[in-house]
Amino acid sequence: MHVGIDKINFFVPSYFMDMTDLAHARNVDPNKFLIGIGQSQMAVAPKTQDIITFAMNAALPMLSPEDKAAIDMVIVGTESSIDESKASAIVLHRMLGIQPFARSFEIKEACYGATAGVQLALGHIQRNPKSKVLVVASDNARYGLNSGGEPTQGAGAVAMLISADPHILRLHQDTVSLTQDIYDFWRPIGHEYPLVEGALSNQTYIESFGKVWTEYQTRTGLTFADFAAMTFHVPYTKMGKKAMMSELEKETPELQERLLARYEESIVYSRRVGNLYTGSLYLSLISLLEQSQVLKAADRIGLFSYGSGTVAEFFSGELVEGYEAHLAKELHEDILDNRYALSLEEYEQFFTDTLLTDQDQVFEDSQLFSIQSIQNTIRHYNEL
Ligand code: COA
Repeated sequence: MHVGIDKINFFVPSYFMDMTDLAHARNVDPNKFLIGIGQSQMAVAPKTQDIITFAMNAALPMLSPEDKAAIDMVIVGTESSIDESKASAIVLHRMLGIQPFARSFEIKEACYGATAGVQLALGHIQRNPKSKVLVVASDNARYGLNSGGEPTQGAGAVAMLISADPHILRLHQDTVSLTQDIYDFWRPIGHEYPLVEGALSNQTYIESFGKVWTEYQTRTGLTFADFAAMTFHVPYTKMGKKAMMSELEKETPELQERLLARYEESIVYSRRVGNLYTGSLYLSLISLLEQSQVLKAADRIGLFSYGSGTVAEFFSGELVEGYEAHLAKELHEDILDNRYALSLEEYEQFFTDTLLTDQDQVFEDSQLFSIQSIQNTIRHYNEL
């Protein structure tokens, strides 16, 4: 039985900050952001939109009534939780109208959480072939105004339906994971923004890829030549490329050129969105599948997941015949093209005007979905 990604969709908020404008405001050469980091735009969310509204917008359009009847597990991977105890997946389960006899929970391990969800889903479907699992990666990636990480922020969600006989990507049981206790990025309870050792996080990411990729080759006997494309967790678009090149530079120029061309296709969306934290790897996958003109059925795609702290994992999947028909290229390009460009003042206002959940309040945000009020600390969303 084949198990894998049957449906996949993303959502980003309808506001962005232009990275050239941000560079000017921070007295930085714009080429540092545009070329050195590799970002041209950055998605920004207002306080009335959170991981639940991103997740709703990513998941709802792709789910049929049959899917909602078959889903018996809802997993949200996030590091932007809105509650220390109750899982956002429970709210999502209700708002999506999924049948009641389901498990719903959240997974946390920095940007790796959704990959843990995907791997858990694979095992669950193998034991229960008729069921489907909804895995959503949803985050608001914020480092704070004038911080070192400011140009690597972003916001949004990727939703994936994992099932037997998937229409997009069959996932192989070839996964290699790696755990290392390193403080490269962490957010102690009560801290609004993470604490980051930027250079250490870059170095650990690259070294982690080297370790899991070497182990993967030993265990499977596969090499770069067996892959049509490699996708990466993309906190900023230069990051995955640096990691891939640290190993790929040993290969022939032709192989380097081919995999670098696919890498460029995989970062088209991330370049305009920024870091989605848990969703970034899967946004790269969507971008690759929608932007590449050369991929075909049975091609092997590599996926490298990295969560600071740290957990890294490399695994692969095989494209299914007709996968193109299950993507939404035009819709996704429209979402990115039709966003509002924030001025610096508006962007900074979005950051300083934070949501105070201990005060009852009513909001006016017409975006479906958004927070309409806070009552007794509980967020109330507009619903269909
Ligand atoms: N033109 C072109 N490139 C330029 C440039 C210019 N004018 N100025 C700087 N650069 C390049 C640098 O050479 C560097 O490239 P390199 O890494 O290939 O050498 C890149 O831009 C970044 O410059 P750097 O000085 O390292 O940036 P920084 O000290 O501001 O830190 C991050 C960058 C990513 C570490 C920081 O934004 C951060 O901490 N982000 C959050 C953590 C993160 O995303 N970690 C990734 C792993 S999860």
